[in-house]
Amino acid sequence: MKSHHLDPYAELEAALARKEIQGKSVLVTGGGYGIGSAIAKSFAEAGAAEVILAGRTESRLAAAVDALSSIKSTKFSYQVVDISSDQDVKRLYGALKESPDILVNNAGYMAAPAGFIDADLEDYWKTFTVNIYGTALVTQSYLRHRRERKTTSPAVIITLNTIGAYSVRVPGLSAYGGSKGGLARMMELAAVDVPETTARFITVHPGAVKTDMGLKSGLDGVFPSTDAKLAGDFIAWSATEEASFLSGRFAWVNWDIEELKQAKGKIIESDLLRTSLSG
Ligand SMILES: NC(=O)c1ccc[n+]([C@@H]2O[C@H](COP(=O)([O-])OP(=O)(O)OC[C@H]3O[C@@H](n4cnc5c(N)ncnc54)[C@H](OP(=O)(O)O)[C@@H]3O)[C@@H](O)[C@H]2O)c1
Repeated sequence: MKSHHLDPYAELEAALARKEIQGKSVLVTGGGYGIGSAIAKSFAEAGAAEVILAGRTESRLAAAVDALSSIKSTKFSYQVVDISSDQDVKRLYGALKESPDILVNNAGYMAAPAGFIDADLEDYWKTFTVNIYGTALVTQSYLRHRRERKTTSPAVIITLNTIGAYSVRVPGLSAYGGSKGGLARMMELAAVDVPETTARFITVHPGAVKTDMGLKSGLDGVFPSTDAKLAGDFIAWSATEEASFLSGRFAWVNWDIEELKQAKGKIIESDLLRTSLSG
């Protein structure tokens, strides 16, 4: 894409003002802080009827719900959940009478950056457990919850990933990048198994956002910083019908939505925005 946005822009705001998100319900994992709370806000501002936040830290979830409660048209709630815990995820869906229309797999973990030889393998493996097992668990349980409730409308599943899954090679991040590479491919292939009439899967790179994880990576300031609101707004847009051609694909929030729509034919014909080995 020619344009590279770091902040929200008029065409994106106009697309969200078309109210396609109006009345929808959304479950955001890792919604208590970081990019997740910006995603929750964007969905609410776009008219979502209900936003459920899930995360491990109750105080931060409660504070996020409190901060969002000025948006009166949306009902906010939270669930204390470790996405890698079978029990917690079972409890989460057990508490939901209806299946949300949209699932945002935002929760993620980054092991302390370390060279491969010196990395603590316990922390290393936790990255795979949270990012791959946890996301698979939340997503499979979501689809089963929808099936049990005989929900027939197509779900939208948006999963946060990173450019580090397939591009930029920076030292010390093999656990994080490796787990996200696996996650990207897992979602791409889940989209082969699950018909689009049941759910579409879209993977999104949120840009370099100043969050706890952004600081932990040691890359703060290395890449131009993306406003968390742009990430939230693009992710809300990616749940709309006009973004449905991104199903089974990987997109960046920094891309211009008008240019993306213009490229739709080429993206589909040439099967772009999928994982591949180049060269
Ligand atoms: N920031 C960036 O520049 C950047 C760039 C590329 C991709 N991303 C991706 O964007 C997503 C959000 O990143 P962020 O920067 O906002 O990270 P963050 O500041 O570290 O926040 C992570 C969020 O995930 C939750 N979380 C972590 N482990 C969890 C678990 N086991 N169960 C449930 N919730 C858990 C955290 O809440 P609790 O601690 O309360 O559980 C928190 O809300 C991640 O998937 C990340 O990989 C971020």
